[in-house]
Amino acid sequence: MSEQNNVIDIVIFGGHGDLAFRKLMPALYHIANEGFISGESRIISMTRRAMSRDEHIALVRQKMDEFLPAEEFDAQKMEYFCERLEVLTVDLPDSATYAGLQEMLSEAPGRERLYYLSTAPDFFGVICRNLSANALVSEALRVVLEKPIGRDLHSARAINDEVLRYFEEKQIYRIDHYLGKETVQNIMALRFSNRFFMPLWDASNIDHVQITVSEEVGVEGRWGYYDDYGALRDMIQNHLMQLVCLVAMEPPCSLEANAVRDEKVKVLRSLRQMNVTDIETKTVRAQYTAGSIGGKAVPGYREGEGVSESNTETFAAMRIDIDNWRWNGVPFYLRSGKRMSKRNSEIVIAFKNVPYSIFANKGRCISQNKLVISLQPKESITLKLMNKIPGLTEQMRLQPVELELNAPIDGARKPLAYERLMLDVIRSNPTHFMRLDEVEAAWKWADVILEAWAENVVPMKSYSAGTDGPSASIAMIERDGRSWHEE
Ligand code: BG6
Repeated sequence: MSEQNNVIDIVIFGGHGDLAFRKLMPALYHIANEGFISGESRIISMTRRAMSRDEHIALVRQKMDEFLPAEEFDAQKMEYFCERLEVLTVDLPDSATYAGLQEMLSEAPGRERLYYLSTAPDFFGVICRNLSANALVSEALRVVLEKPIGRDLHSARAINDEVLRYFEEKQIYRIDHYLGKETVQNIMALRFSNRFFMPLWDASNIDHVQITVSEEVGVEGRWGYYDDYGALRDMIQNHLMQLVCLVAMEPPCSLEANAVRDEKVKVLRSLRQMNVTDIETKTVRAQYTAGSIGGKAVPGYREGEGVSESNTETFAAMRIDIDNWRWNGVPFYLRSGKRMSKRNSEIVIAFKNVPYSIFANKGRCISQNKLVISLQPKESITLKLMNKIPGLTEQMRLQPVELELNAPIDGARKPLAYERLMLDVIRSNPTHFMRLDEVEAAWKWADVILEAWAENVVPMKSYSAGTDGPSASIAMIERDGRSWHEE
């Protein structure tokens, strides 16, 4: 049992959406069963299609069969979870249709309340306006906004302005689920609790940083959303940027939410704005064509629903620079794509070579020391070092060796990123959520690239599904005399 037992009403807008079934319901199943919310709490799904509570529960059960790992299923726990479920119909833009919610919530006044807006961002403003019009906004509640907040700085500002009319910034939790991943949270622990890294973590010792988030999966039925966004808006502007912040930030003065976010926003504001020549030479965009993954044929992106003419990138790679004292001259290479050869997310900190090698004769070379932080599928932190090959050879011979830094927790279930973050909202801890100025600074940087891409300053390349992206991405990093880290 947990340390707290809040009675809370959790209201999910977009309650029958892909995210709700795939991530939110499994997270809430664990939160409810582990006692983080009390038994009287309710999970209220707001949906477009009218359905009875029984039909809703049957649908949730069916989806949980699909998305909850088999080893986490327990019939009694599922029963307990389903008892907490409620459903209401809503037409998001129509204020009158919020009356049902008004009535349900007023049955139990004074409870804690959380609104989770898991809809397209265009609806965030109108939902908040309608909640307010129905007297459903009070100081004690929290509202969670799913990413992406808008599709550029202008739309992000409009959304944030509208939401801020009804909620205070401290009530708003802008979620980026990468911040809920165990290894991502461990970056701060690694950096700020180990003296060892302190003197090494800067431009005098680090040659470059690479961040890769590659997925085997494609768009998974989210064509309507994805085709309007693409890899830069869907992944780089938020998930990869948050990883850049955690690697590059200065030590915050405490773990208090604003202290951490103050440091992250400084990194975002130090990102060098690219000019057209930079965008031409330092960014790559591409779309996948038909190929095969794990021996299975996979159709190309343009063979998906209603996107035959699409010019949306499913892969993006770029070199970015951070203009501050710590990182001057240290490139950060980012890449992210769908339908790649394998699921692999990692951060590689590549250290500079030793100033002079006494081992350099006879073709023996020293590999760069690297710190590899693997986020998925494996969660690990590995330090790559050089070591002597044991033996009696006349000439000393070297080999690269790996030091695994993290101890796996035996037998423990790995909490889901959404579970950890939902719990943070329940506990009113916004540290791992994006503040308004972070979102806006990230869009400000991304907009310049997006505008140039929209004008076709950078040609759209292609790559076969099941590969590591277009050759242009390899050429981009090789022009700097470096290469992507591959295991
Ligand atoms: C989401 C994106 O935010 O993150 C998806 O919208 C992407 O397109 C997903 O597939 C990746 O998350 P994870 O946790 O599987 O790496």
